[in-house]
Amino acid sequence: MRYCRARYGSTFALRIAGLGTVVLLSDPDSIKKVFTGSAEHLRAGEVNAVLEPIVGTNSVLLLDGARHLRHRRLLLPPFHGERMKLYAEQMREVTERSLARWPRDEPFPLRPYTQDITLEIILRTVFGVDQEHEVSELRGRLERLLTIADSPLAVIGLIPALRRDLPLSPWGRFLRDRARADEEIYAVIERRRRAGIEGRDDILSMLLDAVDEDGAHLDDAELRDELMTLLVAGHETTATALCWAFERILATPRVLARLLGEVGEAGEDFSPERLARMPYLDATIHEALRLRPVIPLVGRRLHAPLGLAHFEIPEGWVVSPSIYLTHMNPTLYERPEEFRPERFLDKRIDPYAWLPFGGGVRRCLGMAFALFEMKVVMATILSRQRLSLAQRAPVATVRRAITFSPRGGTRVRATPVR
Ligand code: HEM
Repeated sequence: MRYCRARYGSTFALRIAGLGTVVLLSDPDSIKKVFTGSAEHLRAGEVNAVLEPIVGTNSVLLLDGARHLRHRRLLLPPFHGERMKLYAEQMREVTERSLARWPRDEPFPLRPYTQDITLEIILRTVFGVDQEHEVSELRGRLERLLTIADSPLAVIGLIPALRRDLPLSPWGRFLRDRARADEEIYAVIERRRRAGIEGRDDILSMLLDAVDEDGAHLDDAELRDELMTLLVAGHETTATALCWAFERILATPRVLARLLGEVGEAGEDFSPERLARMPYLDATIHEALRLRPVIPLVGRRLHAPLGLAHFEIPEGWVVSPSIYLTHMNPTLYERPEEFRPERFLDKRIDPYAWLPFGGGVRRCLGMAFALFEMKVVMATILSRQRLSLAQRAPVATVRRAITFSPRGGTRVRATPVR
């Protein structure tokens, strides 16, 4: 992407097998036009179709038009920013339990631990499972399915021509894993319906209660697809963002020292109110997501021609705000390759210059959830462990399915504080 921008300028087209012609954008004017344009003419669901086998046809990620709007309206209230505070305690407890299992004084990759943390947080707060046996049953059934979705081979496995349901084929195994996971997800939905949602604040309970404009609820198949979507969209992404944040922080002693100071001042108080008074941690998270965006691109397929910069882009092509290139645009960020959280202190965020969560009517539904979760998890880890990097920085980027990840999963050494 950097090579093409240096050679062809901020707007250029690539021909990509399976997608057609994709026009990459990295200037805020064009990005604003894409994010605020007609949802009828700029369709994201079609571009995300490769995820269908795992998330299902009713997933908000795959829908466009009126059905997308209906699902979005039903899903948005449970993810409202203020509500996230309800989950602070659970997020912290899950992190503390993970910390107790971290290796001492020997190098290890952070990724499996952050992945466990983000998976368990979703199971508890989104699915609302709180019994130990229920958590481990679901985890067991989902783990292999999610590993398939996370691996670079997944994209190949999901190509329709390779889907052969033979006993030993990857596709056949995928179908069996998915059936096992679905069985348990439907069982969770059924148990929740029977037990009722009185006094519960998990996201599934809110979704069971939610009604659209016509008074209709999401049916079981729709609920299954949305739960799977939240899992796939929210688990690997946040785990990777945490790995990158620690990679950048540990490679920048000045930032680490300032963060430890801010977290140390809080003592044992990590209440949502106290976390809201940690501006440097907040700025560090924004800066890590700028410099190392987990998802490098988003896309919209054009159903009408669109004028961008001085080009007329034809119907049928995909326009793609490049999150990575926008964040590396030197007219928006001075010395963009430097890790400097200070740039986000007291700064209003420009949604067309900082876009790790995409934008417009397709902006990540879990943005407030992910930002709050990162804050709780990072404050907890920083207050409990002294970490150092056990890999040479800067760590290279590798692609894992749809995310950009640190090679080796951010290897660290950790020593408990007390
Ligand atoms: C750091 C973590 C995360 C990152 C970087 C991230 C990034 C993104 C991006 C780039 C998109 C596409 C937006 C677009 O096309 O404009 C997206 C969509 C989405 N994300 Fe996230 N995400 C994260 C965490 C989460 C979490 C925790 C959840 C839920 C638990 C979630 C749920 C979703 C959903 C449902 C969509 C589809 C929205 C739609 O199509 O209307 N994400 N995310």
